Amino acid sequence: MKAKLWIALIALLQECAAHAAAPPSIAIPVFVSDLSASRVEVTVGVRNQQDDDINCTWELRGRSVDRAKLLPEIQESPAPWGRLIRATFPLDETQGSLASHALVRTCQGRVTEAKRSKTLHPIPADPKATLKFSVIADSQGEAAEARWIVSAIEKAQSDFVIHAGDVVDHGEKLEEWRAWFDELNELTSVRLVATALGNHDYDQYSENPPDGWRTRPTAGIWDALSQGRRWRVLEFPQARIFLLDSNLHSMSRSQWQAQLDWLKEELVRPDPTNRIRIAVFHHPPFANSVHNWDQLRDTPSQPHEYIRIRSELVPLLESGGVKLVLNGHAHHYERSFKNAITYVTAGAINTWRMVPSPPAWFDINPYSQKLLTLKWTITHCTLIPTNTTLACTTQNRAGEVVDEFEIRWSNNP
Ligand SMILES: [Fe+2]
Repeated sequence: MKAKLWIALIALLQECAAHAAAPPSIAIPVFVSDLSASRVEVTVGVRNQQDDDINCTWELRGRSVDRAKLLPEIQESPAPWGRLIRATFPLDETQGSLASHALVRTCQGRVTEAKRSKTLHPIPADPKATLKFSVIADSQGEAAEARWIVSAIEKAQSDFVIHAGDVVDHGEKLEEWRAWFDELNELTSVRLVATALGNHDYDQYSENPPDGWRTRPTAGIWDALSQGRRWRVLEFPQARIFLLDSNLHSMSRSQWQAQLDWLKEELVRPDPTNRIRIAVFHHPPFANSVHNWDQLRDTPSQPHEYIRIRSELVPLLESGGVKLVLNGHAHHYERSFKNAITYVTAGAINTWRMVPSPPAWFDINPYSQKLLTLKWTITHCTLIPTNTTLACTTQNRAGEVVDEFEIRWSNNP
């Protein structure tokens, strides 16, 4: 009897020790998952290995937010490692920037995360106001190596950032996501980083995904980043930005077709102010890259993704009046021009850089106007709606301007 009591006591002590040694509950810092002139959506990822009750508290401008004013209620979505908690707050556009932070407590009363207090950078609400954005891609290297873009974006005073995919190298590794949000906290918690899905953001090795998508265990983060949608349009007062999914190897034919049908419907929708139309997807239809060359082999029964992107997506973009297409994946910077569309393959920001050496059987990209290899780059764009002008400058890590271009479009719908 005595022995049984000792065993029970030891088991209890072991459980308590394991509980105390458990990793912190917060897995992902606060990040802005959507931001406009009138609303901000902020997400925090919570590791939930201990089945804690999470009490998320939000503040704006140092004051507790009345939950009744949230748009809508706080939303929780499960992730394989815990939960994502999303809250949407109204912003008074006349107030300019606001501060926000989240505080999470467990049922044990332990505060597991310090406040994240930041000044938000809302999108200008006036349709005539100048809009600035920066373009990056392929941040799948060491997160700390990507830090140089924080000051570059701050210096450019960009209102938001477009990421053309491959945020991390292994989407199933929570630590890589955490490293990204930790290292770039000043950026991701104050500005919207609008992201298109890259091939590394999927589980490329899952043969039978239950929902038809080859999603990775950390797909919950993607749901927060993309509001649960693989393709969507960001409706800014000055621009329409289409975030698309070009990972054909990760979707069925009908899913690809559904995306094309959605895009076609969106592009024929009348837009009285004829805002510039920009499309973002990971795989560049036109790029001078060995990253593409070995994948361009086609068979009659299964056309390759680049063939489909060129033959099925590009004509839609051309007829739909899209003026700028932003891609990544190639790990070099390239600007191309075809049928009134400028294509920018954003250079990687912290990973290996491609050196093109075309095999004899490959046609060099005939639409290429600028090609830069062995450089990490970032592109800053300034949109002046009143002049229907978009002026972009690409710089390298040292801040040197390595490319400049301008796009003009008609304001007659
Ligand atoms: Fe990629």
